[in-house]
Amino acid sequence: MSHYQIAVVVGSLRKDSFNRKLAYSLVKLAPPEFSFKQVQISDLPLYNQDDDANQAESVKRLKSEVRAAHALLFVTAEYNRSIPGVLKNAIDHASRPYGQNAWAGKPAGVIGASIGAVGTALAQQHLRNVLAYLDVPVLGQPEAFIHAKEGLFDEAGNIGADSKQFLQNWMDQYVAWVKKHVD
Ligand SMILES: Cc1cc2nc3c(=O)[nH]c(=O)nc-3n(C[C@H](O)[C@H](O)[C@H](O)COP(=O)(O)O)c2cc1C
Repeated sequence: MSHYQIAVVVGSLRKDSFNRKLAYSLVKLAPPEFSFKQVQISDLPLYNQDDDANQAESVKRLKSEVRAAHALLFVTAEYNRSIPGVLKNAIDHASRPYGQNAWAGKPAGVIGASIGAVGTALAQQHLRNVLAYLDVPVLGQPEAFIHAKEGLFDEAGNIGADSKQFLQNWMDQYVAWVKKHVD
């Protein structure tokens, strides 16, 4: 395949989100045949199974963007040792109605940044559980639990020097994972 379209899901709505910044700087480390588009999750209603037969336009949009992508990239914050509710809400929406799971079969990478010392490790583990159920093959190694601290990004919004090599390797492995599943 000559071109890979990746849907990026950021698990934070915060204006100055470290995870959104991480997503933007991380994708700059990908090869040119990869393009990335963040899917919007901020305007989704709270998931209600009663609406399965009549999904909101924002839910239809999310599902069609996920379906159109070859692969997924989740960049998530950690809230109270799990994934933020906004991310779980988006995942639930695009998994339904039953039998119409838009995530299924899309290879994915999971990464996240937090100000805490464990750097989203528990949130990522919970996310892996959810994605396993949804039939999403997730890159196992390398894991990347990013500590959001001074110097993570440079002034131009690129990954800072201390983390560049580590995250370049992560991206290289992610790219290989996507190609292995899509080609
Ligand atoms: C409701 C809430 C719960 C949080 N729980 C955790 C946590 O369990 N682990 C952690 O490392 N940081 C936690 N934090 C701090 C986040 O790491 C921090 O707010 C971070 O900036 C969130 O990511 P973002 O910048 O992408 O929004 C929590 C923050 C909030 C608002």
